[in-house]
Amino acid sequence: MIFDTHAHYNDGQFADDRDELLSSMPENGVGLIMNACSNLGEIPDIIALCEKYPFVYGAVGIHPEDAPTAEEGYLDRLREYSKHPKIRAIGEIGLDYYWTADTKKQQKRILGEQVDLARELGLPVIIHDREAHGDTMDILREHKVWECGGVFHCYSGSAEMVKEITGKLNMYVAFGGSLTFKNAVKPREAAKAVPADRLLIETDSPYLAPVPHRGKRNSSLYLPKVLEMLSEIRGVPADELERVTYENGRRLFGI
Ligand code: NI
Repeated sequence: MIFDTHAHYNDGQFADDRDELLSSMPENGVGLIMNACSNLGEIPDIIALCEKYPFVYGAVGIHPEDAPTAEEGYLDRLREYSKHPKIRAIGEIGLDYYWTADTKKQQKRILGEQVDLARELGLPVIIHDREAHGDTMDILREHKVWECGGVFHCYSGSAEMVKEITGKLNMYVAFGGSLTFKNAVKPREAAKAVPADRLLIETDSPYLAPVPHRGKRNSSLYLPKVLEMLSEIRGVPADELERVTYENGRRLFGI
């Protein structure tokens, strides 16, 4: 079975066929899905999906692009929502200097606060790091992320950085459709460097569909393409990677 450790099925792009698509997951080999969260407004929909589908779990958190929506009291609301038994992570949280470099200061503050919340709650973090490797690593070190653990989603850092992430920081590394893109030389080197017991797969649906579906709406049903690419990179059969990444995801999110 496949564990898609990062998707956004509450996204409007699934409005027309969400139920049909999600209902078809088990018969197509998708056994578990972690639905990530970008802002407070999404959380009721995420919880509704968790309650409707036994194989869907959720996270709560403020995405760096939504940093300006983190108003006074947002941590209390995240803490309250996190009591739901199917909320198993804080995320996605992090830094994005590609789209929103102008809110750096605010992004850094809410990332640190949310890592502290994750440690307090004993939940892993889901990290979004785009063009912000140095600052992201600094904040994770400063806020002792190893006490709660977590995952770098859609990993775009170096193979060198993988060592500290999977070692000292006690975290996992996830790869998705972008691994199959023609220019993904650096991510493929990184994917080779991740220890087997720290490797995860994800879609970031509806975004980042793998080749040959690139540019279309993504879904967990395309994950065999990511497993095929990982199999080629690591020289390990795809079905073994499917099994290992499923177990890794269950361990990380306590499922
Ligand atoms: Ni995402």
